[in-house]
Amino acid sequence: MSNIAAVIMAAGKGARMKSRLPKVMHRLAGKPLIDHVLDLTDQLGIDHPLVILGHGRALIEEHVRDRAVVVTQTEQLGTGHAVRQALPGFQDAEDVLVLSGDQPLLCLETMQALLALHQEQKAVATVLTAQVADPFGYGRVIRDGARLLKIVEEKDATEAERAVREINTGTYCFNVEFLTKALPGLTPQNAQGEYYLTGVFDFILADGLKALTYCTRDVDEALGINSRIQLAEAEQIFRRRILHNWLEEGVTIEDPATVYIESDVVLSRDVTLRPFVYLKGTTVVEENSVIGPQVDLESCFCGAGSELRYTVAREVKIGKGCTIGPFAYLRPGTELADGVKVGDFVEIKKSRIGSKTKIPHLSYIGDAEIGADVNIGAGTITCNYDGEHKHLTRIADGVFIGSNANLVAPVEIGAHAFVGAGSTITEGVPAEALVVERGTLRVRKEWRKAKTKAKGAEQCQPTN
Ligand code: UD1
Ligand code: CA
Repeated sequence: MSNIAAVIMAAGKGARMKSRLPKVMHRLAGKPLIDHVLDLTDQLGIDHPLVILGHGRALIEEHVRDRAVVVTQTEQLGTGHAVRQALPGFQDAEDVLVLSGDQPLLCLETMQALLALHQEQKAVATVLTAQVADPFGYGRVIRDGARLLKIVEEKDATEAERAVREINTGTYCFNVEFLTKALPGLTPQNAQGEYYLTGVFDFILADGLKALTYCTRDVDEALGINSRIQLAEAEQIFRRRILHNWLEEGVTIEDPATVYIESDVVLSRDVTLRPFVYLKGTTVVEENSVIGPQVDLESCFCGAGSELRYTVAREVKIGKGCTIGPFAYLRPGTELADGVKVGDFVEIKKSRIGSKTKIPHLSYIGDAEIGADVNIGAGTITCNYDGEHKHLTRIADGVFIGSNANLVAPVEIGAHAFVGAGSTITEGVPAEALVVERGTLRVRKEWRKAKTKAKGAEQCQPTN
Protein backbone atom coordinates (compact mmCIF):
# COMPACT_ATOMS: atom_id res chain seq x y z
CA MET A 1 0.00 0.00 0.00
CA SER A 2 1.43 3.33 -0.98
CA ASN A 3 1.99 5.87 1.74
CA ILE A 4 -0.88 5.08 4.07
CA ALA A 5 -0.96 5.66 7.81
CA ALA A 6 -3.51 4.20 10.21
CA VAL A 7 -5.23 5.52 13.31
CA ILE A 8 -7.04 3.16 15.66
CA MET A 9 -9.50 4.79 18.07
CA ALA A 10 -9.60 3.08 21.43
CA ALA A 11 -9.90 5.75 24.11
CA GLY A 12 -13.55 5.15 24.97
CA LYS A 13 -14.67 3.65 28.24
CA GLY A 14 -16.65 0.72 26.94
CA ALA A 15 -19.09 1.20 29.83
CA ARG A 16 -21.55 -1.37 28.50
CA MET A 17 -19.00 -4.16 28.92
CA LYS A 18 -19.40 -3.68 32.71
CA SER A 19 -15.81 -4.67 33.23
CA ARG A 20 -12.65 -3.56 34.96
CA LEU A 21 -10.75 -4.69 31.90
CA PRO A 22 -10.55 -2.05 29.14
CA LYS A 23 -12.91 -3.03 26.32
CA VAL A 24 -10.26 -3.58 23.64
CA MET A 25 -8.40 -6.00 25.95
CA HIS A 26 -11.34 -8.40 26.04
CA ARG A 27 -10.50 -11.51 24.06
CA LEU A 28 -11.92 -12.74 20.80
CA ALA A 29 -10.67 -16.13 19.57
CA GLY A 30 -7.99 -16.00 22.24
CA LYS A 31 -6.62 -12.54 21.45
CA PRO A 32 -7.45 -9.04 22.72
CA LEU A 33 -9.79 -7.17 20.35
CA ILE A 34 -7.12 -4.58 19.63
CA ASP A 35 -4.78 -7.30 18.33
CA HIS A 36 -7.22 -8.25 15.62
CA VAL A 37 -7.25 -4.65 14.40
CA LEU A 38 -3.44 -4.49 14.60
CA ASP A 39 -3.24 -7.76 12.64
CA LEU A 40 -5.28 -6.10 9.92
CA THR A 41 -3.01 -3.03 9.70
CA ASP A 42 -0.02 -5.42 9.63
CA GLN A 43 -1.56 -7.36 6.76
CA LEU A 44 -2.11 -4.08 4.92
CA GLY A 45 1.58 -3.36 5.32
CA ILE A 46 1.03 -0.32 7.52
CA ASP A 47 3.95 0.21 9.83
CA HIS A 48 3.36 1.34 13.42
CA PRO A 49 -0.26 2.50 13.39
CA LEU A 50 -1.27 5.22 15.84
CA VAL A 51 -3.45 3.96 18.66
CA ILE A 52 -5.50 6.53 20.54
CA LEU A 53 -5.83 5.62 24.19
CA GLY A 54 -7.58 7.14 27.19
CA HIS A 55 -9.50 4.83 29.52
CA GLY A 56 -7.31 1.97 30.72
CA ARG A 57 -4.36 3.43 28.87
CA ALA A 58 -1.55 1.91 30.94
CA LEU A 59 -2.64 -1.67 30.41
CA ILE A 60 -3.35 -1.31 26.71
CA GLU A 61 -0.16 0.68 26.11
CA GLU A 62 1.92 -2.04 27.73
CA HIS A 63 0.29 -4.54 25.42
CA VAL A 64 0.56 -2.67 22.09
CA ARG A 65 3.85 -0.83 22.65
CA ASP A 66 5.92 -2.95 20.28
CA ARG A 67 3.47 -2.76 17.42
CA ALA A 68 1.99 0.72 17.59
CA VAL A 69 2.58 4.35 18.51
CA VAL A 70 0.39 5.43 21.39
CA VAL A 71 -1.38 8.80 21.31
CA THR A 72 -3.16 9.94 24.46
CA GLN A 73 -6.63 11.46 24.46
CA THR A 74 -7.06 12.65 28.02
CA GLU A 75 -10.73 13.59 27.69
CA GLN A 76 -13.04 11.64 25.40
CA LEU A 77 -14.71 14.48 23.52
CA GLY A 78 -15.71 12.43 20.49
CA THR A 79 -14.28 10.54 17.53
CA GLY A 80 -13.34 13.75 15.70
CA HIS A 81 -11.46 14.99 18.73
CA ALA A 82 -9.76 11.61 19.05
CA VAL A 83 -8.37 11.61 15.51
CA ARG A 84 -7.30 15.24 15.92
CA GLN A 85 -4.96 14.20 18.74
CA ALA A 86 -3.18 11.92 16.28
CA LEU A 87 -2.80 14.50 13.47
CA PRO A 88 0.93 15.17 13.99
CA GLY A 89 1.59 11.43 13.79
CA PHE A 90 0.46 10.95 10.19
CA GLN A 91 1.47 14.15 8.41
CA ASP A 92 4.00 12.31 6.23
CA ALA A 93 1.37 10.05 4.73
CA GLU A 94 -0.88 10.81 1.78
CA ASP A 95 -3.89 8.95 3.14
CA VAL A 96 -4.91 7.75 6.57
CA LEU A 97 -7.07 4.80 7.47
CA VAL A 98 -9.26 5.36 10.53
CA LEU A 99 -10.36 2.25 12.43
CA SER A 100 -11.89 1.43 15.81
CA GLY A 101 -10.23 -0.84 18.33
CA ASP A 102 -13.57 -2.48 19.04
CA GLN A 103 -14.23 -3.60 15.47
CA PRO A 104 -12.37 -6.87 15.07
CA LEU A 105 -14.28 -8.50 12.20
CA LEU A 106 -13.06 -6.38 9.30
CA CYS A 107 -11.62 -8.43 6.45
CA LEU A 108 -8.39 -7.77 4.62
CA GLU A 109 -10.05 -8.08 1.18
CA THR A 110 -12.65 -5.46 2.11
CA MET A 111 -10.03 -3.02 3.30
CA GLN A 112 -7.92 -3.55 0.21
CA ALA A 113 -10.92 -2.90 -2.01
CA LEU A 114 -11.84 0.23 -0.06
CA LEU A 115 -8.31 1.63 -0.27
CA ALA A 116 -8.02 0.83 -3.97
CA LEU A 117 -11.30 2.62 -4.67
CA HIS A 118 -10.23 5.61 -2.58
CA GLN A 119 -6.88 5.95 -4.30
CA GLU A 120 -8.01 5.25 -7.86
CA GLN A 121 -10.83 7.75 -7.56
CA LYS A 122 -8.66 10.29 -5.75
CA ALA A 123 -11.38 10.82 -3.15
CA VAL A 124 -10.79 12.93 -0.04
CA ALA A 125 -12.84 10.52 2.05
CA THR A 126 -14.15 6.99 1.61
CA VAL A 127 -16.35 5.40 4.23
CA LEU A 128 -17.06 1.72 4.68
CA THR A 129 -20.81 1.18 4.88
CA ALA A 130 -23.13 -1.80 5.27
CA GLN A 131 -26.82 -2.50 4.66
CA VAL A 132 -28.15 -3.93 7.90
CA ALA A 133 -31.51 -5.26 9.02
CA ASP A 134 -31.47 -3.25 12.24
CA PRO A 135 -29.59 0.05 11.92
CA PHE A 136 -30.41 1.19 15.47
CA GLY A 137 -27.55 3.03 17.16
CA TYR A 138 -25.41 3.45 14.07
CA GLY A 139 -24.72 6.58 12.02
CA ARG A 140 -26.89 6.58 8.87
CA VAL A 141 -25.50 7.18 5.41
CA ILE A 142 -27.59 9.88 3.73
CA ARG A 143 -27.44 10.06 -0.04
CA ASP A 144 -28.77 11.93 -2.99
CA GLY A 145 -28.90 9.13 -5.50
CA ALA A 146 -25.39 7.69 -5.61
CA ARG A 147 -23.85 10.79 -4.04
CA LEU A 148 -23.00 10.79 -0.36
CA LEU A 149 -24.47 13.82 1.37
CA LYS A 150 -23.71 13.25 5.03
CA ILE A 151 -23.60 10.84 7.94
CA VAL A 152 -26.09 11.44 10.75
CA GLU A 153 -25.93 9.87 14.17
CA GLU A 154 -28.99 8.06 15.53
CA LYS A 155 -29.55 10.75 18.14
CA ASP A 156 -29.43 13.59 15.60
CA ALA A 157 -31.43 11.90 12.85
CA THR A 158 -34.89 12.79 11.63
CA GLU A 159 -37.46 10.04 11.43
CA ALA A 160 -36.90 9.71 7.68
CA GLU A 161 -33.14 9.46 8.23
CA ARG A 162 -33.56 6.84 10.92
CA ALA A 163 -35.40 4.67 8.39
CA VAL A 164 -32.22 4.42 6.30
CA ARG A 165 -30.59 1.02 6.67
CA GLU A 166 -27.22 1.84 5.18
CA ILE A 167 -24.96 2.48 8.15
CA ASN A 168 -21.53 3.92 8.81
CA THR A 169 -19.32 1.07 10.01
CA GLY A 170 -16.92 3.58 11.59
CA THR A 171 -14.07 2.70 9.22
CA TYR A 172 -12.74 5.30 6.79
CA CYS A 173 -9.91 6.35 4.54
CA PHE A 174 -9.14 10.08 4.40
CA ASN A 175 -6.79 12.21 2.38
CA VAL A 176 -4.40 13.60 5.00
CA GLU A 177 -4.32 17.14 3.65
CA PHE A 178 -8.12 17.29 3.65
CA LEU A 179 -8.47 15.81 7.14
CA THR A 180 -5.82 18.15 8.57
CA LYS A 181 -7.83 21.14 7.37
CA ALA A 182 -11.24 19.72 8.28
CA LEU A 183 -10.73 18.47 11.84
CA PRO A 184 -10.13 21.87 13.48
CA GLY A 185 -13.41 23.06 11.93
CA LEU A 186 -15.57 20.54 13.83
CA THR A 187 -17.91 21.78 16.54
CA PRO A 188 -19.77 19.89 19.25
CA GLN A 189 -23.16 21.29 18.20
CA ASN A 190 -25.10 18.06 18.17
CA ALA A 191 -27.27 15.90 20.39
CA GLN A 192 -24.30 14.38 22.24
CA GLY A 193 -22.17 17.54 22.48
CA GLU A 194 -19.26 15.66 20.89
CA TYR A 195 -16.78 16.39 18.13
CA TYR A 196 -18.02 13.84 15.61
CA LEU A 197 -15.51 12.56 13.09
CA THR A 198 -18.45 12.11 10.74
CA GLY A 199 -18.85 15.89 10.81
CA VAL A 200 -16.01 16.23 8.27
CA PHE A 201 -18.34 14.90 5.58
CA ASP A 202 -20.30 18.16 5.85
CA PHE A 203 -17.23 20.10 4.62
CA ILE A 204 -16.83 17.80 1.65
CA LEU A 205 -20.21 18.66 0.26
CA ALA A 206 -19.74 22.39 0.90
CA ASP A 207 -16.35 22.45 -0.84
CA GLY A 208 -17.43 20.30 -3.80
CA LEU A 209 -14.90 17.57 -2.95
CA LYS A 210 -15.25 13.88 -3.66
CA ALA A 211 -16.44 11.51 -0.93
CA LEU A 212 -17.18 7.86 -1.64
CA THR A 213 -18.80 4.93 0.06
CA TYR A 214 -17.75 1.32 -0.15
CA CYS A 215 -20.54 -1.00 0.93
CA THR A 216 -19.46 -4.37 2.29
CA ARG A 217 -21.61 -7.36 1.49
CA ASP A 218 -20.58 -9.07 4.71
CA VAL A 219 -22.62 -7.24 7.34
CA ASP A 220 -20.71 -9.06 10.09
CA GLU A 221 -17.79 -6.74 9.39
CA ALA A 222 -19.80 -3.85 10.75
CA LEU A 223 -20.19 -5.42 14.18
CA GLY A 224 -18.63 -3.20 16.80
CA ILE A 225 -18.21 -4.68 20.27
CA ASN A 226 -20.02 -2.56 22.84
CA SER A 227 -21.42 -5.26 25.12
CA ARG A 228 -20.68 -8.84 26.13
CA ILE A 229 -23.62 -9.94 24.01
CA GLN A 230 -21.90 -8.48 20.96
CA LEU A 231 -18.62 -10.03 22.08
CA ALA A 232 -20.27 -13.46 22.17
CA GLU A 233 -21.83 -12.82 18.75
CA ALA A 234 -18.46 -11.83 17.35
CA GLU A 235 -16.90 -14.96 18.83
CA GLN A 236 -19.45 -17.11 16.98
CA ILE A 237 -18.89 -15.30 13.70
CA PHE A 238 -15.12 -15.40 14.04
CA ARG A 239 -15.14 -19.06 14.96
CA ARG A 240 -17.30 -19.92 11.96
CA ARG A 241 -14.97 -18.01 9.68
CA ILE A 242 -11.92 -19.89 10.99
CA LEU A 243 -13.63 -23.28 10.67
CA HIS A 244 -14.80 -22.40 7.19
CA ASN A 245 -11.29 -21.44 6.19
CA TRP A 246 -9.81 -24.75 7.43
CA LEU A 247 -12.56 -26.77 5.79
CA GLU A 248 -11.68 -25.00 2.52
CA GLU A 249 -8.01 -25.82 3.11
CA GLY A 250 -8.66 -29.55 3.33
CA VAL A 251 -9.19 -30.21 7.04
CA THR A 252 -12.02 -32.55 8.07
CA ILE A 253 -14.07 -31.23 10.97
CA GLU A 254 -16.61 -33.83 12.03
CA ASP A 255 -18.69 -31.60 14.25
CA PRO A 256 -18.05 -27.89 13.64
CA ALA A 257 -20.42 -26.99 16.47
CA THR A 258 -17.96 -28.25 19.09
CA VAL A 259 -14.58 -27.31 17.59
CA TYR A 260 -12.76 -24.12 18.63
CA ILE A 261 -9.70 -22.99 16.71
CA GLU A 262 -7.88 -19.79 17.57
CA SER A 263 -6.66 -17.46 14.86
CA ASP A 264 -2.92 -18.26 14.99
CA VAL A 265 -3.34 -22.04 14.76
CA VAL A 266 -1.94 -23.71 11.62
CA LEU A 267 -3.33 -26.98 10.25
CA SER A 268 -2.23 -29.14 7.32
CA ARG A 269 -4.31 -30.95 4.75
CA ASP A 270 -6.02 -34.16 5.74
CA VAL A 271 -5.96 -33.39 9.42
CA THR A 272 -9.15 -34.73 11.04
CA LEU A 273 -10.72 -32.90 13.95
CA ARG A 274 -13.20 -35.03 15.84
CA PRO A 275 -15.83 -33.58 18.23
CA PHE A 276 -14.95 -31.34 21.19
CA VAL A 277 -11.57 -30.03 20.18
CA TYR A 278 -9.86 -26.81 21.32
CA LEU A 279 -6.78 -25.72 19.38
CA LYS A 280 -5.24 -22.62 20.90
CA GLY A 281 -2.25 -20.27 20.78
CA THR A 282 0.34 -21.17 18.17
CA THR A 283 -0.65 -24.82 17.82
CA VAL A 284 0.44 -26.53 14.59
CA VAL A 285 -0.97 -29.88 13.46
CA GLU A 286 0.63 -31.68 10.52
CA GLU A 287 -0.89 -33.93 7.85
CA ASN A 288 -3.05 -36.96 8.58
CA SER A 289 -3.20 -36.44 12.31
CA VAL A 290 -6.48 -37.26 14.02
CA ILE A 291 -7.29 -34.99 16.93
CA GLY A 292 -10.16 -35.75 19.31
CA PRO A 293 -12.61 -36.46 20.61
CA GLN A 294 -12.04 -34.18 23.61
CA VAL A 295 -8.62 -32.71 23.00
CA ASP A 296 -7.37 -29.34 24.28
CA LEU A 297 -4.03 -28.20 22.85
CA GLU A 298 -2.35 -24.88 23.58
CA SER A 299 0.71 -23.84 21.59
CA CYS A 300 1.62 -27.42 20.72
CA PHE A 301 3.29 -28.89 17.66
CA CYS A 302 1.83 -32.19 16.50
CA GLY A 303 3.75 -34.10 13.84
CA ALA A 304 2.14 -35.92 10.92
CA GLY A 305 0.02 -39.02 11.43
CA SER A 306 -0.37 -38.73 15.20
CA GLU A 307 -3.55 -39.61 17.06
CA LEU A 308 -4.68 -37.78 20.16
CA ARG A 309 -7.77 -38.67 22.17
CA TYR A 310 -9.09 -37.15 25.42
CA THR A 311 -5.87 -35.26 25.93
CA VAL A 312 -4.81 -31.91 27.38
CA ALA A 313 -1.43 -30.56 26.29
CA ARG A 314 0.37 -27.24 26.79
CA GLU A 315 3.52 -26.15 24.92
CA VAL A 316 4.41 -29.65 23.91
CA LYS A 317 6.18 -30.97 20.82
CA ILE A 318 4.75 -34.24 19.57
CA GLY A 319 6.60 -36.16 16.85
CA LYS A 320 5.23 -38.06 13.89
CA GLY A 321 3.05 -41.13 14.33
CA CYS A 322 2.52 -40.78 18.07
CA THR A 323 -0.51 -42.16 19.90
CA ILE A 324 -1.68 -40.14 22.88
CA GLY A 325 -4.47 -40.80 25.36
CA PRO A 326 -7.12 -41.40 26.37
CA PHE A 327 -6.75 -39.19 29.44
CA ALA A 328 -3.20 -37.96 29.03
CA TYR A 329 -1.91 -34.64 30.37
CA LEU A 330 1.22 -33.30 28.68
CA ARG A 331 2.73 -30.24 30.31
CA PRO A 332 5.13 -27.52 29.10
CA GLY A 333 8.59 -28.49 27.98
CA THR A 334 7.65 -32.01 26.97
CA GLU A 335 9.02 -33.33 23.68
CA LEU A 336 7.96 -36.64 22.25
CA ALA A 337 10.03 -38.08 19.39
CA ASP A 338 8.40 -40.05 16.56
CA GLY A 339 6.24 -43.08 17.25
CA VAL A 340 5.89 -42.53 21.01
CA LYS A 341 2.90 -44.04 22.75
CA VAL A 342 1.45 -42.29 25.78
CA GLY A 343 -1.54 -44.12 27.15
CA ASP A 344 -4.26 -43.60 29.72
CA PHE A 345 -3.87 -41.58 32.91
CA VAL A 346 -0.32 -40.50 32.15
CA GLU A 347 1.07 -37.09 33.08
CA ILE A 348 4.33 -35.92 31.53
CA LYS A 349 6.07 -32.68 32.48
CA LYS A 350 9.22 -31.10 31.00
CA SER A 351 10.59 -34.38 29.70
CA ARG A 352 12.12 -35.66 26.49
CA ILE A 353 10.90 -39.03 25.33
CA GLY A 354 12.81 -40.94 22.63
CA SER A 355 11.31 -42.57 19.57
CA LYS A 356 9.01 -45.57 19.92
CA THR A 357 9.11 -45.40 23.70
CA LYS A 358 5.91 -46.52 25.40
CA ILE A 359 4.37 -45.06 28.54
CA PRO A 360 1.07 -46.86 28.35
CA HIS A 361 -0.66 -46.56 31.74
CA LEU A 362 -0.92 -44.60 34.99
CA SER A 363 2.46 -42.89 35.13
CA TYR A 364 3.92 -39.57 36.25
CA ILE A 365 7.02 -38.60 34.29
CA GLY A 366 8.57 -35.26 35.30
CA ASP A 367 12.00 -33.76 34.52
CA ALA A 368 13.08 -36.88 32.68
CA GLU A 369 15.20 -37.71 29.67
CA ILE A 370 14.09 -41.02 28.30
CA GLY A 371 15.76 -42.68 25.32
CA ALA A 372 14.34 -44.66 22.42
CA ASP A 373 12.52 -48.01 22.65
CA VAL A 374 12.00 -47.76 26.38
CA ASN A 375 9.06 -49.48 28.03
CA ILE A 376 7.72 -47.75 31.11
CA GLY A 377 5.55 -50.13 33.12
CA ALA A 378 2.13 -49.23 34.50
CA GLY A 379 2.21 -46.97 37.52
CA THR A 380 5.83 -45.86 37.17
CA ILE A 381 6.62 -42.61 38.96
CA THR A 382 9.64 -40.37 38.57
CA CYS A 383 10.08 -38.91 42.06
CA ASN A 384 11.49 -35.62 40.80
CA TYR A 385 10.87 -33.36 43.79
CA ASP A 386 12.55 -33.59 47.15
CA GLY A 387 10.46 -30.84 48.70
CA GLU A 388 12.97 -28.15 47.74
CA HIS A 389 14.40 -28.91 44.32
CA LYS A 390 13.48 -30.71 41.13
CA HIS A 391 15.89 -33.41 39.93
CA LEU A 392 16.49 -35.19 36.67
CA THR A 393 15.80 -38.82 35.81
CA ARG A 394 17.78 -40.25 32.90
CA ILE A 395 16.71 -43.47 31.26
CA ALA A 396 18.86 -44.65 28.35
CA ASP A 397 17.72 -46.50 25.20
CA GLY A 398 16.05 -49.89 25.40
CA VAL A 399 15.43 -49.88 29.16
CA PHE A 400 12.53 -51.89 30.61
CA ILE A 401 10.95 -50.44 33.72
CA GLY A 402 8.64 -52.89 35.47
CA SER A 403 5.26 -51.84 36.79
CA ASN A 404 4.90 -49.62 39.82
CA ALA A 405 8.54 -48.56 39.99
CA ASN A 406 9.61 -45.40 41.82
CA LEU A 407 12.61 -43.71 40.25
CA VAL A 408 13.98 -41.34 42.90
CA ALA A 409 15.78 -38.50 41.11
CA PRO A 410 18.53 -37.66 40.49
CA VAL A 411 18.97 -41.11 39.07
CA GLU A 412 20.25 -42.71 35.88
CA ILE A 413 19.27 -46.05 34.35
CA GLY A 414 21.83 -47.38 31.82
CA ALA A 415 20.96 -48.67 28.36
CA HIS A 416 19.00 -51.93 28.17
CA ALA A 417 18.85 -52.25 31.94
CA PHE A 418 15.84 -54.02 33.48
CA VAL A 419 14.10 -52.68 36.57
CA GLY A 420 11.95 -55.20 38.41
CA ALA A 421 8.32 -54.37 39.17
CA GLY A 422 7.66 -52.53 42.41
CA SER A 423 11.27 -51.39 42.86
CA THR A 424 12.22 -48.05 44.39
CA ILE A 425 15.42 -47.03 42.65
CA THR A 426 17.61 -44.57 44.52
CA GLU A 427 20.98 -45.23 42.86
CA GLY A 428 22.22 -45.43 39.30
CA VAL A 429 21.70 -48.70 37.45
CA PRO A 430 24.44 -49.76 35.02
CA ALA A 431 23.68 -50.65 31.42
CA GLU A 432 22.36 -54.17 30.76
CA ALA A 433 21.87 -54.83 34.53
CA LEU A 434 18.83 -56.28 36.26
CA VAL A 435 17.82 -54.44 39.41
CA VAL A 436 15.14 -55.46 41.86
CA GLU A 437 14.44 -53.71 45.13
CA ARG A 438 11.64 -55.19 47.24
CA GLY A 439 10.93 -56.62 50.66
CA THR A 440 11.58 -60.37 50.92
CA LEU A 441 8.60 -62.46 49.96
CA ARG A 442 7.54 -64.69 52.83
CA VAL A 443 5.18 -67.63 52.40
CA ARG A 444 3.92 -69.43 55.55
CA LYS A 445 2.45 -72.71 54.48
CA GLU A 446 -0.89 -73.80 56.04
CA TRP A 447 -1.10 -70.54 57.92
CA ARG A 448 -4.91 -70.50 57.80
CA LYS A 449 -5.24 -73.94 59.29
CA ALA A 450 -2.85 -73.16 62.14
CA LYS A 451 -4.78 -70.02 62.94
CA THR A 452 -8.18 -71.79 63.11
CA LYS A 453 -6.75 -74.43 65.41
CA ALA A 454 -5.42 -71.82 67.84
CA LYS A 455 -8.80 -70.10 67.91
CA GLY A 456 -10.65 -73.40 68.71
CA ALA A 457 -8.36 -74.10 71.66
CA GLU A 458 -9.08 -70.65 73.06
CA GLN A 459 -12.89 -71.25 72.96
CA CYS A 460 -12.53 -74.51 74.97
CA GLN A 461 -11.04 -72.67 77.94
CA PRO A 462 -13.40 -72.93 81.02
CA THR A 463 -14.97 -69.62 82.03
CA ASN A 464 -15.54 -68.54 85.62
C1 UD1 B 1 -19.42 5.76 15.70
C2 UD1 B 1 -19.85 6.65 14.54
C3 UD1 B 1 -21.11 6.08 13.92
C4 UD1 B 1 -20.88 4.66 13.48
C5 UD1 B 1 -20.36 3.80 14.63
C6 UD1 B 1 -19.92 2.46 14.12
C7 UD1 B 1 -19.16 8.88 15.19
C8 UD1 B 1 -19.62 10.21 15.62
N1 UD1 B 1 -20.09 7.97 15.01
O1 UD1 B 1 -20.45 5.82 16.67
O2 UD1 B 1 -21.50 6.87 12.81
O3 UD1 B 1 -22.07 4.10 12.96
O4 UD1 B 1 -19.20 4.42 15.24
O5 UD1 B 1 -19.58 1.60 15.19
O6 UD1 B 1 -17.99 8.70 14.95
N2 UD1 B 1 -13.43 6.94 20.79
C9 UD1 B 1 -12.30 7.57 21.21
N3 UD1 B 1 -12.41 8.81 21.75
C10 UD1 B 1 -13.59 9.46 21.86
C11 UD1 B 1 -14.74 8.79 21.43
C12 UD1 B 1 -14.64 7.55 20.90
O7 UD1 B 1 -11.19 7.05 21.11
O8 UD1 B 1 -13.58 10.59 22.35
C13 UD1 B 1 -13.31 5.60 20.23
C14 UD1 B 1 -14.06 4.54 21.02
O9 UD1 B 1 -13.22 3.97 22.02
C15 UD1 B 1 -14.44 3.55 19.93
C16 UD1 B 1 -14.57 4.40 18.68
O10 UD1 B 1 -13.87 5.60 18.94
O11 UD1 B 1 -13.40 2.60 19.73
C17 UD1 B 1 -16.03 4.69 18.32
O12 UD1 B 1 -16.60 5.42 19.36
P1 UD1 B 1 -18.08 5.17 19.87
O13 UD1 B 1 -18.36 6.12 20.95
O14 UD1 B 1 -18.30 3.74 20.11
O15 UD1 B 1 -18.87 5.65 18.57
P2 UD1 B 1 -20.33 5.25 18.19
O16 UD1 B 1 -21.28 6.04 19.01
O17 UD1 B 1 -20.48 3.79 18.18
CA1 CA C 1 -19.15 1.91 18.93
